[in-house]
Amino acid sequence: MKMDLFSEAIKIVLEAGRQLTERKGIDDISEKGPTDYVTAVDVRVQKMIFEKLSQIDPDVQFLGEEKDNEEIDLQGKIWILDPVDGTTNLIHDFQHSVISLAYQEAGEVQFGIVYNPFSREFFSGKKGSGAFLNDRRISVSNVRSLSQSLISIGTAPGCREDADRAFARMRRIYDRCQDIRRVGTAALELAYVACGRLDGFYEGHLHIWDYGAGKLLVEEAGGIVLADQERVFASAPGIAEEFRCIAEEEENVL
Ligand code: IPD
Repeated sequence: MKMDLFSEAIKIVLEAGRQLTERKGIDDISEKGPTDYVTAVDVRVQKMIFEKLSQIDPDVQFLGEEKDNEEIDLQGKIWILDPVDGTTNLIHDFQHSVISLAYQEAGEVQFGIVYNPFSREFFSGKKGSGAFLNDRRISVSNVRSLSQSLISIGTAPGCREDADRAFARMRRIYDRCQDIRRVGTAALELAYVACGRLDGFYEGHLHIWDYGAGKLLVEEAGGIVLADQERVFASAPGIAEEFRCIAEEEENVL
């Protein structure tokens, strides 16, 4: 890996953040699928970031939410970008939307960045070197019991046919934890697990651009992550087993 990729990527993401707070073109919305939206901001941020990254190293492939990714060699070098994670939040000016960028080589994310320009909180992490919020090193919480935990459960809005399972899961967890949160951006929810604001996160049907960077942040902050096409589970280690057992206790499905 070229060592300057990380610092160059940081500069590019910080600069692109202004596009989210300005929300220029936010009323130009298309529906990619039921309740799955793309705005002119998503498209502009992706184009801007990919153009700048391609000047640093033209050999790295681009995997992005707002493009066709069929030709990507997943074992090669890849930028993985969600230009706006939390598009529905952005449409409603809910002020919790982030740029999520990861760099992957040989199937493993090497570094990840999650930037919330509304709060100016910049989360970053490099494999083997820890995770940071702005300049401060972060770690997952040291909670030992779900009953002492604050948990975020995603609703997988693009997959309404799975809503009964998602809400049954939310109810099971809610009955055993202090309370539930739902921020509306998986990348930021993972970053919040990494810095200990949340003790755990669970959502089904996410894509690599939603969780690639956030997964690395949680791992580098000492947390546990399981991520596949079915679900993303992230947790402080002290509650991982209890949380996962309850989240995946499918016999209670409605
Ligand atoms: C969405 C957000 C949301 C999650 C959805 C994702 P997008 O990403 O991460 O929190 O519930 O499943 O699709 O579409 O805003 O980039």
